[in-house]
Order: sequence, then C-alpha cells, then structure tokens
Amino acid sequence: KSRSQKCTVGCPALDRCLGGGVPCDSVTEFVGESGSGKTQLCLQLALSAQLPPSRGGLSASAIFIHTEFPFPLRRLRRLSRSFRASNPSLPCPDPCDRVFLRAVHSAHDLLRAIPAVEAFLLHSRSPWRPVRLLLIDSIAALFRADFDNTAADLRRRSALFFRISAGLRRLARRFGLAVVVTNQVVDFIGDGDVRVGNLETGLFSSGRRVCPALGLAWAHCVNSRVFLSRDEHGPVKTRRMSVVFAPHLPHSSCEYAIKGDGVFG
Ligand code: GTP
Repeated sequence: KSRSQKCTVGCPALDRCLGGGVPCDSVTEFVGESGSGKTQLCLQLALSAQLPPSRGGLSASAIFIHTEFPFPLRRLRRLSRSFRASNPSLPCPDPCDRVFLRAVHSAHDLLRAIPAVEAFLLHSRSPWRPVRLLLIDSIAALFRADFDNTAADLRRRSALFFRISAGLRRLARRFGLAVVVTNQVVDFIGDGDVRVGNLETGLFSSGRRVCPALGLAWAHCVNSRVFLSRDEHGPVKTRRMSVVFAPHLPHSSCEYAIKGDGVFG
C-alpha cells in the first residue's frame, strides 16, 4: 500500500476505487473516450485539492495545463459555486483563484512548460501557495497533429514522451505533486488479448474495442493508469472507472455518474 499522500477526487466511491484519491509524488493517467468525464474529474480535483487533509485534500492549489480550447471556465465556475457552498470555511473566497491555468499548444510547448511550472513553484509569491496538484488535460491532443506513423516519427514521438514524463516525474517528486494527465482512446486494431491489466489493453466500451492512445511507449511513462468508460447503449446509462495498473492498488472498478455540479459514485 502506498504511503504517499492522496488527493480526493471529491466522490467517495471513486476515492475508494483509487485507494483514497490520486497519489502525490506520482503521475496518474485517466484514459477514456470523449465524454467519459476526464475533464470533469480534472476540474473537480482542482477544487478538492483545496480541502484540508482531514477531508481528503491537500490544502493546496492546482496548476491546470489545458490543450483544448477554450478552457471550460463556465464548468469550473459552476462546480466552484457548489464546492464553495458545501465548504464555506475554506480560506479562499473564490476557489477558482486557486486554479492556475496555462495553455499549451504542442508537445514541444508542453516540454517548455515543465521548467516554467518549476520556476512558478519555486518563486511564485501568490498567497495561494502551495501548489500540490498538476493537471494536464489532454496529453493525446498534443500528439495528434504533429506526428505521422512513420518509424522515424514514432521514434521522435517516443523520445519526446520520455522527456515529458521524466520532467513530470521530477516535478512530482521534488514538490510532492499529484500529477494527473488525461489521455484519449483509439480503436483497437488486431486480434490481441483484451484484458484489463495488459498495458496495451483493448477494452470494450460502447460496443467498440478501444485502447489508450499513444501506445506502449507512453504507457511506460505513467505510474498509474485508470480507465473511464461509458455505456450508453444498454437500458441504463452507466459510467465505470477501472484501475488498469497502479503500483499501490489492486485491479478494481466502480460505477459513477456525472451531474452539472460534480461526479458521483
Ligand atoms: P473529451 O474532452 O471529449 O475527451 O471528453 P471528456 O472525457 O473530458 O468528458 P467531459 O469531462 O467533458 O465529460 C462530459 C460529460 O460531462 C458530459 O457527458 C456531460 O454529462 C457532463 N457535463 C456536465 N456539465 C457539462 C458542460 O458544461 N459541458 C460539457 N461538455 N459536459 C458537461
């Protein structure tokens, strides 16, 4: 069992599935198809990090690196209103002030953002320090445009993954950050084994066989991978979180729902 501090995602059922929340000193990936709730979870985490440790938070701010535009400010404000109403004694009058935004437009831009984040963590005079959560939503979007499927491009892409993930892990360890990245899925091609727990796993979701984007090279770059899926074809619309791999957790899964003011188990 991990001794790292955890940050609650703000939903008891999901926290249980994650062994208490997303771990500090570590890189956690949420992977799922469009609409599975990756952004919603990131927004919710950015707020719940502000809770004191006695309530599962980190008493800390978050940096939110976004690669899709515009940043969903309206959604954050909506979540923030209900978060504020349920937590009136938090020190920051507007919880949105504790979410520091940075836009990133390409994989190289993300690589450049890492030392910028480091400088911010070391030198910021914001009254809302410390920052203990770094969110990147979404990593796959950065690699979609810039790379082809040629062998040379795949090598170039893997080299960039390693530099980015090495930078993220260094930040996580140095500053005790919980780092969360989101990733998308692509259609699973081939007759491989379809099993949760396989790094290259294809999973059934909405009747499709899908697997995480960015392949095996990226899978080795994250410490934990959590799959989010939604099934809207059955009689009941369900969403499911599954821990695919994590050094501190067994495979487990649970159902959840998304409403305008949060994610619920
Ligand atoms: P992609 O960014 O397309 O990969 O999707 P995602 O996995 O990040 O999904 P997201 O978190 O955007 O979740 C979408 C779900 O959140 C929707 O299916 C809605 O049920 C719910 N939701 C609640 N409020 C909003 C809102 O203001 N905008 C959007 N887009 N979704 C909302």
